[in-house]
Amino acid sequence: MTRQRFLTGITPSGTPHLGNYVGAIRPAIAASRDSSINSFFFLADYHALIKCQDPQVVRQSSKEIAATWLALGLDTDQALFYRQSDIPEIPELTWVLSCNAAKGLMNRAHAYKAAVQANEGAGEDPDFGITMGLFSYPVLMAADILMFNASHVPVGRDQVQHVEMARDIAQRFNHNFAHVFTLPEAVVDDSVAVLQGLDGRKMSKSYGNTIPLFEGEKALRKSINRIKTNLLEPGEPKDPDDSTVFQVWAAFASPDETARMRREFDNGIAWGEAKKQLFELVNSQLAPARERYRQLMDDPGHIEAVLKKGAGRAREYSVPLMQKVRDGVGIGVLR
Ligand code: TRP
Repeated sequence: MTRQRFLTGITPSGTPHLGNYVGAIRPAIAASRDSSINSFFFLADYHALIKCQDPQVVRQSSKEIAATWLALGLDTDQALFYRQSDIPEIPELTWVLSCNAAKGLMNRAHAYKAAVQANEGAGEDPDFGITMGLFSYPVLMAADILMFNASHVPVGRDQVQHVEMARDIAQRFNHNFAHVFTLPEAVVDDSVAVLQGLDGRKMSKSYGNTIPLFEGEKALRKSINRIKTNLLEPGEPKDPDDSTVFQVWAAFASPDETARMRREFDNGIAWGEAKKQLFELVNSQLAPARERYRQLMDDPGHIEAVLKKGAGRAREYSVPLMQKVRDGVGIGVLR
């Protein structure tokens, strides 16, 4: 039986935070240990260029994200771990797919539509500030996915439409040219927590409400102390289900420890005490990986070697696949 192939991209446009860890990195690394699954993870650095025009940020974030995944124990002998821009076949395939993807399909992409709506709302030209990169983003993502014949694509809800577009593009290509591509399916795991941020909304860089993953013990303590709480006094019962402190706790604690904290809330634990315990819990889980992260950040040569090895393995797939695509559409060697 062929193993299911899971593939997902991580856009390097920021510093990893607890929400990324709980919602994406931790489940992905756990899944990659499952021997019935073949995992592909990559730094989507071409995607980063769509929203980030600061070279320093792209470079730093690529390094931080690679170091984060390695520090958290991604086994790169099992999983394929590479950088998108090390695979020249991806932009090649993107062009061929662009010639097959309907423009009308791209017009319906949420990210593009949201940008147009924002412009219209502001009384601007509808395409103000919109690059071709933003517009054709789903085609690049389709190339990422189809290049490796991924069957499953774990993503957040906001990305499901893009995976469906990849499926659509693949179907069209298979029908018009040659049966080259596996039709991918999005996998949205509802059992994975969407972590709340400091202000109670979803933890997200764009809300500025994140708790940094590896910025050190002091920064972690400081962030946890800033989690918004209500004004209930020590001794007054508190509602765990209405509390970010409890929600973050539950994302890290065992079921027993979660049940205990629930009782503590009923018994009116003081916010300061709950936060202190939360810090201890999260810090104890992250400290060993944080140490490895520091070492990796000081040794970019090692990260580079790991990524290059991954690229070498990835190209064992992408080079022959691109050959099939070229053959299929009629370019390349004359016979
Ligand atoms: N666009 C995705 C995001 O912003 C990242 C990504 C790029 C991706 N290529 C991918 C995810 C391919 C899954 C598969 O989250």
